[in-house]
Amino acid sequence: MHQTYISDIAAREGETVEIRGWLYNLRSGGKLKFLQVRDGTGMIQGVLSKKEVSEEVWTAAQELTQECSIIVQGQVNKDERAPSGFELWLKDLIIVGSADEYPITKKEHGDAFLLDHRHLWIRSRRQHAILRIRHQVIKAMRDFFDDLGFINLDAPIFTPNASEGTSTLFETDYFGDKAYLSQSGQLYMEPGCAAFGKVYCFGPTFRAEKSKTRKHLTEFWMLEPEVAYMDLRGCMELGEDMLCFIIRRVLERCKSELNTLDRDISKLECIQKPFPRIHYKEACEILVDKGIDFTPGDDFGTPDEEALVEGYDKPLLIHHFPAAIKAFYMKCEANDPETSLSVDFIAPEGFGEIIGGSQREDNLDILKQKIKSHDLPSEAFEWYLDVRRYGTFPHSGFGLGLERTIAWICGIRHIRETIPYPRLMHRLKP
Ligand code: 4AD
Ligand code: MG
Repeated sequence: MHQTYISDIAAREGETVEIRGWLYNLRSGGKLKFLQVRDGTGMIQGVLSKKEVSEEVWTAAQELTQECSIIVQGQVNKDERAPSGFELWLKDLIIVGSADEYPITKKEHGDAFLLDHRHLWIRSRRQHAILRIRHQVIKAMRDFFDDLGFINLDAPIFTPNASEGTSTLFETDYFGDKAYLSQSGQLYMEPGCAAFGKVYCFGPTFRAEKSKTRKHLTEFWMLEPEVAYMDLRGCMELGEDMLCFIIRRVLERCKSELNTLDRDISKLECIQKPFPRIHYKEACEILVDKGIDFTPGDDFGTPDEEALVEGYDKPLLIHHFPAAIKAFYMKCEANDPETSLSVDFIAPEGFGEIIGGSQREDNLDILKQKIKSHDLPSEAFEWYLDVRRYGTFPHSGFGLGLERTIAWICGIRHIRETIPYPRLMHRLKP
């Protein structure tokens, strides 16, 4: 018999189908067994009745253990109470592979235990929901930019220089030379937008973050659009439109996943334009007024971000940060070289900064000075300076941290569950 996927079961009502998957859970009661079967596309309950099946099938069923692989055949019947809306009246059952005592059970497990078993943990219902949402978010991001005529131009991962400062670089040996794992694809997108106008890259980025917070990974995925002739204002609008598009898509396609995660959907439904915007100086005043221990001129820490978004149900855009706390490549106000044309998007509900962006310095001499004053090796940036040598132009872009965005959308506190295999300061396994 052909394989049917559980996701397609609704079209097969009344028919006998074959499902190939794994046993998620088993309840036994005398002459009946209730099998929760999963096949990766969904979950369905199979009902096995001793009097409906052969002796061999009933005997085989005594060997069922959690996560053994099975092929079952049964009739698809409507069942209003079932989460999938259907159940299977089983006729046949084959155990394809037995399972040792499965380490992840219904009881509470510690974080370290679950992370050690991440390769199995991703089979669980909750992890499944999160990673499906991740898939849809990635698709939505790409669709958003592709529909606007952007070209996807991937950036390298081995790079000869830093982009976001030298403190979080992972260094590797590159045939006797030094190479660094990319912190951001931006420096490669800037020449890219001179070639194609509107580009984006999407890939893993690496930061040797020594902070063990719930918002930091050492390997995370970043989406980085870069647009020629776009200014800071355009950059803010693009980020706003993109986030609205992504959220709308997730609401359309991931209702059941959000439900599994007990996500309050109203918190996502209200994500509509326009988002609130405040100047960095205004943000400082708010913090001082709230009595937060914050020194104006500094970058915001988590408590500051939380105090700033308090009362907002949409991402908060903070713009015009002091140049001193931002990267070398940012352009500054024409009449105020201390203030950068930058923006951070702070997600509501305490999920922190999800987007960082700016207008880029397009003046060759100023940029050279900035590289110097940031103590960066100027030779390494010669190629990058060419963007200013051969037809310079105003341009802007941003980076969206995928995992933080997913943590926000899913409403989960720790970023480690938003990526299939998290890399944290003290975790390189599995
Ligand atoms: O603000 P960041 O450092 O910006 C850049 O890297 C720019 N070059 C992007 C650009 O303009 N093309 O990082 C962008 C985003 C942050 O807002 C945050 O969401 C995420 O990347 N991020 C991290 N996510 C998880 N773990 C970390 N250690 C992260 N560091 C940054
Ligand atoms: Mg940032």
